[in-house]
Amino acid sequence: MTTQASIPSAKRLLRTLNGEALWPPPMWLMRQAGRFLPEFRAMREKADFLTRCMTPDIATELTLQPIRRFGMDGAILFSDILILPWAMGQSLRFVAGTGPVLGAIRSEQDLLALDPARIAEATAPVLETLTRLRAILDGPDAVGVAKPGGTTLLGFTGSPFTVACYMVEGKGSREFAITREMAFREPALFDRLIALLTETTAAYLCAQVEAGAEAVMLFDSWSGLLPPSEFRRHVIAPTRQIVQAVKARHPHVRIVGFPRLAGVMIAEYARETGVDVVALDTGADMRTVSTLLPETLGVQGNLDPVAVLAGGEAMRREALAIREAGRGRAHVFNLGHGVLPETPVEHVEDLVRTVRETP
Ligand code: CP3
Repeated sequence: MTTQASIPSAKRLLRTLNGEALWPPPMWLMRQAGRFLPEFRAMREKADFLTRCMTPDIATELTLQPIRRFGMDGAILFSDILILPWAMGQSLRFVAGTGPVLGAIRSEQDLLALDPARIAEATAPVLETLTRLRAILDGPDAVGVAKPGGTTLLGFTGSPFTVACYMVEGKGSREFAITREMAFREPALFDRLIALLTETTAAYLCAQVEAGAEAVMLFDSWSGLLPPSEFRRHVIAPTRQIVQAVKARHPHVRIVGFPRLAGVMIAEYARETGVDVVALDTGADMRTVSTLLPETLGVQGNLDPVAVLAGGEAMRREALAIREAGRGRAHVFNLGHGVLPETPVEHVEDLVRTVRETP
């Protein structure tokens, strides 16, 4: 399948990812397929999280739910950043109330037990899901599902550092102290883990593009925990390698990077990694950041998910201020982090109307 169409696309999100400033900006929301949707919660009772990710019928349906309901400009694959370590053989469970639980990687022996040769076969159902989604979104049956003008299909992975956080810690954390200690105490071992993730992430993203993803996003949710020297080593350098490897095979594919909580390091990240769009977290002021980033670079973001939870006039005011701050620049309207599970559906409906229809 050729996904690298050089013909100009009419899809608004894809145009913005290619550097065009559109008004109003195209929009989608991180974690738009999630527990805040009643139809998602209904599917949740039928299968556990990994089964949902690995069953193309279910993952396709879950990806499309927010597209049907809100007509988002982007459909993000229903999957998870922890699928890659799981595909290499690391044990993974999602425990209600706790989150992910993995068999922690703490030694060279643990690292050597990971088998990148398993990835292609283990992730085949994910790639099948992308192929089906692309056929649906671009096909004659898209009426009633996709947005007029087209829905862009997004693939994703975690970035090496963020995935390493979960792999080493063995669970979620606010600090990932064990992981950061390993990076300082056993730099050679940690470098090997990052190198393994860099290589497998690039290959997996290429496979996603070949299966039908039109753009990809790298989630680096915990990059902001690192001091500048380590940020350069474990975030900027691996991200640059991934971008180069993906673009060597797919020169036209657009890549969104999300170095969450990176603070002022976002400027260096934007200059040096080669990503096309930088996703801003909630704390980044779009006007200030805009002056720090190359003019041609797109931005994504960055409404506070809590503003959407709260809804009403405060949400609308914040949303319109962000929309205005992005005027004249390639801007993808989104949140600064994922939709919160308790968010009322009507607040998201109101947000979509506000961003699209306010003159
Ligand atoms: O809608 C989408 O955005 C697409 C799917 C998606 C999921 N996870 C589904 C998911 C995406 C893009 C992710 C990324 C992800 N996963 C990140 C990066 C973004 C971020 O939030 O910082 C991270 C750190 C993870 C790891 C992860 N997955 C955690 C910590 C958890 C548990 C916390 C939680 O919200 O339950 C998950 C589980 C997960 N991933 C769920 C979903 C819909 C919830 C599973 C359920 O139904 O119980």
